[in-house]
Amino acid sequence: MASRQQSRPATAVAARYGPVALVTGASDGIGRACAERLAAAGFALVLVARRQAELDSLADRLRARHGIVCHVLAADLGTSAGISATCEAAASHDIGLFVAAAGFGTAGPFLANDIETELAMIDVNCRAVVALTHALAAQMRGRAGRRSAIVLLSSLVGFQGVPRAANYAATKGFIQVLAEGLRLELAGDGIDVLAVAPGPVKSGFAARAGMTMGLADTPDAVARGIVASLGHAGTVRPGWLAKGLEFALMPLPRRGRTLILQQVMAGMTR
Ligand SMILES: NC(=O)c1ccc[n+]([C@@H]2O[C@H](COP(=O)([O-])OP(=O)(O)OC[C@H]3O[C@@H](n4cnc5c(N)ncnc54)[C@H](OP(=O)(O)O)[C@@H]3O)[C@@H](O)[C@H]2O)c1
Repeated sequence: MASRQQSRPATAVAARYGPVALVTGASDGIGRACAERLAAAGFALVLVARRQAELDSLADRLRARHGIVCHVLAADLGTSAGISATCEAAASHDIGLFVAAAGFGTAGPFLANDIETELAMIDVNCRAVVALTHALAAQMRGRAGRRSAIVLLSSLVGFQGVPRAANYAATKGFIQVLAEGLRLELAGDGIDVLAVAPGPVKSGFAARAGMTMGLADTPDAVARGIVASLGHAGTVRPGWLAKGLEFALMPLPRRGRTLILQQVMAGMTR
């Protein structure tokens, strides 16, 4: 976890990983907050999500406020075409930082959920992240002597099974394990891999998942935690709530955490 003393100012992050950051899921929530922080730090940006209008208005705002270059790409990362379009867009820029924030969750009894949505979630949360990480890491490896970074969004729910969000939690466990492995594997290529495991965050996520959220961290707290941790942490749990939940849950055995989260999810799902 990043400590205050270790954390790097945002402008130093831009100097280390610039000139260009690619952010998926930039039309809302955590991805949008990351885009805002990175623009303020001086990164040029490539912003990806499905909703063109949201991306365009964010890009206009960031160009006006920070004088940065900002490209947008409307792409559905649940499809091979959307993944290919994103890889093509990435190939024409010197990307030093990739933030994979596109994703969504489902909640409620597994057997009541639409199986096509469950499978689409695996496509967006896992398949697209693996494909883009593969393409971006290969591209970053060629950045002659300069460091790069990849930020993957796992979750607090990814550290154990979670009844009523079993498949979503499994996609996040996949990402956490992927990031932990790649962190060591890609270190020699000058690529810093960071797993980000937030607790509940107030964004578009809960409405899309059909959940209610009480206490929650803000997307900007997550973005701030990411920027502060890049380059020296393997996993960050950004925000006060995520840290509190880590303190309360992580000492428990895995089965105990699952039982507690069963109660929590029962209260958060319809
Ligand atoms: N919010 C939480 O409580 C929480 C906690 C832990 C981890 N996370 C993780 O953090 C990440 C970001 O979540 P968030 O809270 O920022 O959610 P959000 O506000 O709903 O934003 C999700 C973003 O992903 C994009 N997206 C979704 N499906 C897509 C697709 N098929 N193709 C391209 N882009 C797609 C959305 O854009 P479009 O709709 O425009 O495509 C949006 O920009 C997710 O991976 C989530 O699992 C969230």
